[in-house]
Amino acid sequence: MGYNLSMRLWRGDVDGGSLADFTVEVEEGEVVLDAIHRVQATQAGDLAVRWNCKAGKCGSCSAEINGRPKLMCMTRLSEYDQSETITVTPLRTFPVIKDLVTDVSFNYEKAKEVPAFAPTAPDADGKRRMSQVDVERGQEFRKCIECFLCQDTCHVVRDHEENKPAFAGPRFFLRYAELDMHPLDTNDRRKLAQSAAGLSMCNITKCCTEVCPEHIKITDNAIIPMKERVVDRKYDPLVWLGSKIFRR
Ligand code: SF4
Ligand code: F3S
Ligand code: FES
Repeated sequence: MGYNLSMRLWRGDVDGGSLADFTVEVEEGEVVLDAIHRVQATQAGDLAVRWNCKAGKCGSCSAEINGRPKLMCMTRLSEYDQSETITVTPLRTFPVIKDLVTDVSFNYEKAKEVPAFAPTAPDADGKRRMSQVDVERGQEFRKCIECFLCQDTCHVVRDHEENKPAFAGPRFFLRYAELDMHPLDTNDRRKLAQSAAGLSMCNITKCCTEVCPEHIKITDNAIIPMKERVVDRKYDPLVWLGSKIFRR
């Protein structure tokens, strides 16, 4: 059954903006993105919103719904009381372009800083081999849809523009961890994660894990193991000695 939904949508651009009120007809079973599209179609044709797949797979429709970082296409209206006003604002950690659309290029810059996979030499028959358990370990990390909700929610950069140059963020700790755990990669990801990506600035609050729509255990399976590996390398006398000898 249909009903009238009250919405407050942030409207503005890089120079500032404010919340605008709308009342829109919605149907049971619809998602927040449906309601926004109806506002766009019937009342505000110039409302800017980024989306693509409407299936939780492209990572484009990230926004903050009643203050929580979420995918608009995966957030059902039935999660809220019909009398409740749903407020949608752009991701706070990134600069606004227009209305609900933000400039997420910070993340692409950070992606460029992660050195590409650098494999070991192949075996004598020209093939490279790794065990199934190592293949499976990386699968969880590869589910990332680059919605950047984890980046948006992390307090190290949320409201702390000054930390951005030194901090890659949870999405990229995932990438560092995936490559570090890859038995055929030759780069020293641990050192990079610590020095260039600011792993030590993460104090494992786990907010990133809580908002991940792919339910990737970012903190437990990527960040904490990476931190442990960095510590092992730094404080284990054998690891330390080994790294000195092999560097000569
Ligand atoms: Fe989105 Fe999860 Fe990937 Fe972060 S790790 S960008 S929250 S899918
Ligand atoms: Fe930020 Fe996640 Fe660490 S929210 S502080 S990267 S555990
Ligand atoms: Fe693709 Fe929402 S539109 S994830």
